[in-house]
Amino acid sequence: MDRLEFLKSMGLLAAGAVAVNIDAKANALRAFGQDSIPSIAADKKIATKIQSLDAELDKPVTVVIIGAGDRGRCYAQYAEKFPKCMKVVGVADLNPHRREQMAEIHNIPAENQFAHYNEALAKAKFADAVVIATPDNLHYEPCMKALALGYDVLLEKPVAPTEKECREIMKQAHKYNRIVAVCHVLRYAPYFVALKQVVDSGAIGDLVNIQHFEPIRYYHMAHSYVRGNWPLAEKTTPIILAKSCHDLDIIRWIIGKPCESIAAEGSLYLFRPEMMPKGATERCIDNADGSNCPHEKECPYSAKHVYIDKRRFLGPFDLPKGYTADDIRSKLKTTNYGRCVFRCNNDQCDHYVAIMKFENDVTASFSMDAFTPYGGRRTRIMGTKGFIEGDGHVFTFYDFRSGHKSIWDQKVSEIEEFKGSGHGGGDHMLVRDFVRAVSAQDEKLLTSTIDVSIESHVMGFMAEKSRMSNKKVKI
Ligand SMILES: NC(=O)c1ccc[n+]([C@@H]2O[C@H](COP(=O)([O-])OP(=O)(O)OC[C@H]3O[C@@H](n4cnc5c(N)ncnc54)[C@H](O)[C@@H]3O)[C@@H](O)[C@H]2O)c1
Repeated sequence: MDRLEFLKSMGLLAAGAVAVNIDAKANALRAFGQDSIPSIAADKKIATKIQSLDAELDKPVTVVIIGAGDRGRCYAQYAEKFPKCMKVVGVADLNPHRREQMAEIHNIPAENQFAHYNEALAKAKFADAVVIATPDNLHYEPCMKALALGYDVLLEKPVAPTEKECREIMKQAHKYNRIVAVCHVLRYAPYFVALKQVVDSGAIGDLVNIQHFEPIRYYHMAHSYVRGNWPLAEKTTPIILAKSCHDLDIIRWIIGKPCESIAAEGSLYLFRPEMMPKGATERCIDNADGSNCPHEKECPYSAKHVYIDKRRFLGPFDLPKGYTADDIRSKLKTTNYGRCVFRCNNDQCDHYVAIMKFENDVTASFSMDAFTPYGGRRTRIMGTKGFIEGDGHVFTFYDFRSGHKSIWDQKVSEIEEFKGSGHGGGDHMLVRDFVRAVSAQDEKLLTSTIDVSIESHVMGFMAEKSRMSNKKVKI
C-alpha cells in the first residue's frame, strides 16, 4: 500500500471531520507525560488484521522442551491450546518439579524425560524441533548439538553470551540447513506488527529518528537483575542483551537499515552496598536472629512487600498448589529473593542509554530504566511527513499536512485466543510461525531468523563495548 492509499484507508484524506474521542487517545499520550492533546479533527481508527494464533497444520510439529522454566512453559502452552499444531514429546530440566510438571501436562513418556539437556541430546533425534529455554549461558551448547542432530530450533534470546558463539550458531544452522528462530517475541506482537506496517506504508514519509524507551519497573529490576536470574553480566549477559536485545532488535527491524555506529552510557546507581540505608539487615524479614530490617516498612524493594503482600513474580518459587503466605515466607528465608537489594552480588546497570546511527543518517536513541512505576515499551517515530507515538498497547499516527491523526488500539488481550500469550500476544504468535516454518521447512515464514537476529545482537555487544570503553563504536 502506498502513502496515498494508506491515508485514504485511514480516512485521513477524507473531507469532513469525525469527532475525536479525546479520552481514549489521551491514554496513549499520558504515557509520555502529555495530558493536553492538540485538538485535531477527523480521526479514524487504524484497523490492521490480527491473525489467528492457530497454525492450521494437518499434523502437529513435535518438540522437546529444553529448560522447563518460565519461558519453556510459556512456549509449551501453545501445544495445550493448539494440539493439532504442536505436541511436546520430550523434556529436559534439572529441576525435577518442573520436569515432572511438564511431563504430566503433556503426557511425556518416561524415556523422554531428562534432567540435563546433554541426556536428551545423547539420544538419536526423536522430534521435529527443540525449544531451548535454558539460562543465557546455556544456549550455545544445546543449540550446537541439536542442530548437528538435525533438529530445528526455537532459541531463547539472547542467542549466546558472545558474538563469536552467536556467529557459530548461525554457521551451524547453515551447515546443517536447519531453521533457528530467535525468540524476539516483540516482532510477532500485533501492536509492533501494525506499527511496522504503518511505517512501511510510507505514511510518515522518510523515517528520520526513533526514540525508544524500555521502562523496566522498579520491582521487576530488583526481582530479575538484582536478586534473581540475571544479576551478574559476566555469568549471564549484560543487561543490554539480557533485557534489551528485544529493543535493539525492534529499532533495527522498524528502521530496516543496518546500524553503522553506537555509543552507550549506563551504570548501577542504586543496588549496591554503598547505597544501603543505615542498619539494613541481610534479609528484609526473618533474619537468622529473628529480626526484620528496620527499613522494611518504607523500602519499595522489601521482599515481604513484593512477594508476600503483592504476590508478584512467584514463578521461580515453584510453590505447591494452594500455597499460603507461609510457603512464600519460607522461600524468602532460604533463597536470594528474600535478600536485601543492597546486599546482593549483582552488577547489572539499572539505567542505560544508547544512541545509534543507521545507514542514510537515520538515528535512534534508546533508554532503559529501572526506576519506573510501569513496564512495557514507549516509542516515538519521527518521519518527514508524519509522526507516531505509542505506549506498547496503543499508538497514534499524526499526519502533518492534513493535521489529522489516527489511532491503533486493538485490544489484543481481550481476544480469547490470545489470553495467556505474553508480550502483547507475541509469545504464541512466534510459536505459531515457528511450527508453520518447521512444518513447511520454510524459514521465510519467520521474521526473526538467526541471520537477522545476529545483527541486533551485535548492536548489543557493541553498545556494551562502547559503555565500557567510553568510545563510540563503529559496527
Ligand atoms: N523472549 C523473552 O521475552 C524472554 C523473557 C524472559 C527470559 N528469556 C530468556 O529465556 C531463557 C530462560 O529464562 P526463564 O525465565 O525461563 O528462566 P528459568 O530459570 O525460569 O528457566 C530456565 C530453566 O532451565 C533449567 N536448566 C538449567 N540448566 C539446565 C540444564 N543443564 N539442562 C536442562 N535444564 C536446565 C532450569 O532448571 C530452569 O527450569 C533465558 O535465556 C532468558 O534470558 C526470554
